[in-house]
Amino acid sequence: MAEQRENWSSRTGFIIAAVGSAVGLGNIWRFPYVAYDNGGGAFMVPYLIALLTAGIPLLFLDYIIGHKYRSAAPRAYKKLAPSGQFVGWWQTLVSFVIAIYYAAVIVWAGSYMFFSFGQKWGEDTTTFFVSDFVKHTGDLTSVFVPQMFIGLVIVWALSILIMFGGIRKGVELANKICLPLLLVLFGIMVFKAVTLPGAVIGLNAFFEPNWTKMSDPNVWLAAYGHVFFSLSVGFGIMVTYASYLQKNTNLTGAGLVVGFANSSFELIAGIGIFAAIGFMAMSTGQDVAEVASGGVGLAFFVFPKIISTMGASGDFVGFLFFGSLVVAGISSLISILEVPISAFQSKFDWSRKKAVAIICGVCAVISIAAFSTGSSLVLVDVIDHFANNIGIVAGGLMSIILVTWFNRHKIPSLLAHSNRISSVKLGGAWIFMLTVITPTVLTIALGLKFIDLVKTPYEGYSSTILLLFGWGVVVFFGLGAFILSRMKGIHDDEDDKARAIENAR
Ligand code: ALA
Repeated sequence: MAEQRENWSSRTGFIIAAVGSAVGLGNIWRFPYVAYDNGGGAFMVPYLIALLTAGIPLLFLDYIIGHKYRSAAPRAYKKLAPSGQFVGWWQTLVSFVIAIYYAAVIVWAGSYMFFSFGQKWGEDTTTFFVSDFVKHTGDLTSVFVPQMFIGLVIVWALSILIMFGGIRKGVELANKICLPLLLVLFGIMVFKAVTLPGAVIGLNAFFEPNWTKMSDPNVWLAAYGHVFFSLSVGFGIMVTYASYLQKNTNLTGAGLVVGFANSSFELIAGIGIFAAIGFMAMSTGQDVAEVASGGVGLAFFVFPKIISTMGASGDFVGFLFFGSLVVAGISSLISILEVPISAFQSKFDWSRKKAVAIICGVCAVISIAAFSTGSSLVLVDVIDHFANNIGIVAGGLMSIILVTWFNRHKIPSLLAHSNRISSVKLGGAWIFMLTVITPTVLTIALGLKFIDLVKTPYEGYSSTILLLFGWGVVVFFGLGAFILSRMKGIHDDEDDKARAIENAR
């Protein structure tokens, strides 16, 4: 017997959860270095274009599909068109994989929250992170890292506890605690950062445009990939969250609030972090380029160094910064987990508790086994790169093409559904973005990225690592989605009938 579909307590409850999902590691850990690596101030142009032409239009589409079909991603897309189930499972598996490494980054941040007291990282913050903490050897290694093990057990136990609570008493409640906490922690940290001497030097570097970068297709793909990751679109989260909304909810109004809140937070995070980098540059007489480094380093090598420059008061700033990462990370991790939980629940008619136990259990076991080892840095780097640039971007692109190219006849009913209940009415511009602009840009960017990844091994990693954890993960999305969409679901016949009736109208 299927359980009654849960819902959010109110539209505000949904918006808080959606903002909690969007604002995550992507905003604090990823955005500053992605922006810095891709042209600094000049990245704002591709970022804004990606946000307006793809991020927000896709956010609306995700909301409409989730809300109209009131189902988990695979079932919602299947209700739209039979081949849609593949797209839904692809997105679901992307979330499944992201959850596994996302938890590890939360544990890095959680550990650093404690390292902040007494600034345990010492003088050489890079060696501390790489060798002493994550025990990275440059390759895969099974060296056991007890601290990661303990942290991962705690993060997974907490996530399972929240997910067992269901939508209102678990996910919504956790977000109602995390979001205000995050605003306080991060607000104080940014205030402290921008009032440091030299802050303006860092801000100049962050906003100084490097226009030559704009002709690099990788910059554009990075912008689209980041906007999708950050808005939680293209990998099933917003479809799933919108499916728990009550019948008459202003969808586009909520979408604009979520999009605006997320981008503002992202920008403020960039400002806070680069202000701190400016302070460091001034204190040590270095250039900002020498202080800032790309990749995971920005948060875990550079930030501790800045904190050390602050003397004893740095302990508190470190606690605020890494604490913010943990809180933002938890509220996003639970949204990522909700995607596979609800997908398997609805495909096989599992109870909530059974789905949580199986999905979170499997994720936790893989996550603990893989990331309690000295391989965690390599695995996060490779899996994140492929899951984002290929998994999420392809997931978003497929959902757009499914609707606007292959099921054009469904667009009027999707539009009517949204416009009947929403304040901001959608029309020609939205359709044009999703039919022409976004698919064209994404196809070119994805194609070029594909060629680039085939030609040049990502970050010079060995082909074994790239085949197993880069391309292997992409094959897992495709093959897994194919198999799962072929398997008979408990609601298939009923959904096929409903679709036939809708198409006949
Ligand atoms: N949207 C989430 C983040 O930014 C996944 O981290």
